[in-house]
Amino acid sequence: MAFSAALLVAGLGSMASTVLASPFQIGSPVALSPADLFKRVSSGCSTSGPASCHNTTKETDSCCFESPGGLLLQTQFWDTDPSTGPSDSWTIHGLWPDNCDGTFTENCDPSRAYTDISSLLTAQGSADTLAYMQEFWVDINGQNEQFWEHEWETHGTCYSTLETSCLPSGSPKGAEAVAFFNLVVKLFKASTSRLPSLTCRMMAHRVQQTLPTYTWLANAGITPSSSKTFTLAQITSALKTASGFTPSLDCDGKNLNQISWYFNIKGSLFDGTFVAIDAPEKGSCATTGLKYPPKSGSPAPTGTSSGGGSTPTGTPPSNGSLPSKANLLASSAGGLLTGGTWSTQSPATFTLSGSTSSFTMSTSKGNCGVSGGTLSCGSGVSASTFSAQTSGGNLLLASGGSTAFTSDSAPSGSTQETVFTGSGHSTDFTISIVSA
Ligand SMILES: *[C@@H]1O[C@H](CO)[C@@H](O)[C@H](O)[C@H]1NC(C)=O
Ligand SMILES: *[C@@H]1O[C@H](CO)[C@@H](O)[C@H](O)[C@H]1NC(C)=O
Repeated sequence: MAFSAALLVAGLGSMASTVLASPFQIGSPVALSPADLFKRVSSGCSTSGPASCHNTTKETDSCCFESPGGLLLQTQFWDTDPSTGPSDSWTIHGLWPDNCDGTFTENCDPSRAYTDISSLLTAQGSADTLAYMQEFWVDINGQNEQFWEHEWETHGTCYSTLETSCLPSGSPKGAEAVAFFNLVVKLFKASTSRLPSLTCRMMAHRVQQTLPTYTWLANAGITPSSSKTFTLAQITSALKTASGFTPSLDCDGKNLNQISWYFNIKGSLFDGTFVAIDAPEKGSCATTGLKYPPKSGSPAPTGTSSGGGSTPTGTPPSNGSLPSKANLLASSAGGLLTGGTWSTQSPATFTLSGSTSSFTMSTSKGNCGVSGGTLSCGSGVSASTFSAQTSGGNLLLASGGSTAFTSDSAPSGSTQETVFTGSGHSTDFTISIVSA
């Protein structure tokens, strides 16, 4: 079966189950778009054998049987300090291959520690996955690119079925990492085309997720609150009722912070069948007095578009609070230096004055302004007014009302790239304002 279709794990949950009765079985194939076909990787592995960690004899084909890391954890964050991602969705942390006994290995193949995941995904036909990641797989400090590289290098390189020797011959370099990111996104998010008849309008954009922790909790009346407290049993049983399985929950102090949904897999990660299981152990949360604090960001854009996108659709910019000292971090990697150029070196501190709807900026070099579509900061620069828009929990810099910025290429090492407004150059990005 095609890679994309095979990974459309059936939706769980009380709403989804009206459409898809049996969780985590592959449904009938769906139509594949050209982009899906590009990503199509067929492992040729059977999915009728034992699930990972459930073999009774030695499985010799390491490309078709995930081992030793056959206990998969789909981990999600609920980040509120600072807030990260949409205010009505948990965000992806990763997909980790634990050993069957709960021990694990990491960093299994430094030779495949790929960098510039954004370009890798774009070059291999997975710009849609990248767009989704920019909204739902986000780093707490805005360093998405480093976060993605870390997840691949630390965990992704440990999958036996994603070794390069398992790829079809002639696959481009990094194809197995592209498959990994596509896979993790697909496991988190079900295709909208699979859930066409759901009528629950309030949740319409959120049931696109396969593992919609937020929605499952909300359906049980458990919503973020700065005052309410919950018991672990309340939260766990709401999630078990909705999904059929018990996840494990981790806390930061008393605050809910992370969830792990557990799986085994039949066949290859490329096109296998995920089998949901109960968490083999509980997480770090206490049993009572748990808090589920609200995020300060705004809800994800509604609608059926699968593109995460970073420009809010018609949402008025929330006044929010504009930090007076901030780093300006690019969505892919790095940030802006004192002259307003983009680099992966330590980002400069910008002084912001005004409100989110209208402010000016300066650095140690001088005022920041846009002239002829070029952003710069310096002693001879006349200050321009900027605004800020909240998107997915990030406060994005906007010039002339647009959050789109562009450069000729992404910087690396000590290179500096000129930042232009709009999207006329080859590398597009957004700029997050992060309190310094
Ligand atoms: C399952 O297969 C793996 C990989 O070959 C092997 O290491 C393990 O010992 C097998 N488990 C059993 C119970 O045979
Ligand atoms: C937003 O900021 C503007 C400019 O400072 C101010 O006039 C307006 O009252 C603010 N709106 C809200 C809702 O706080």
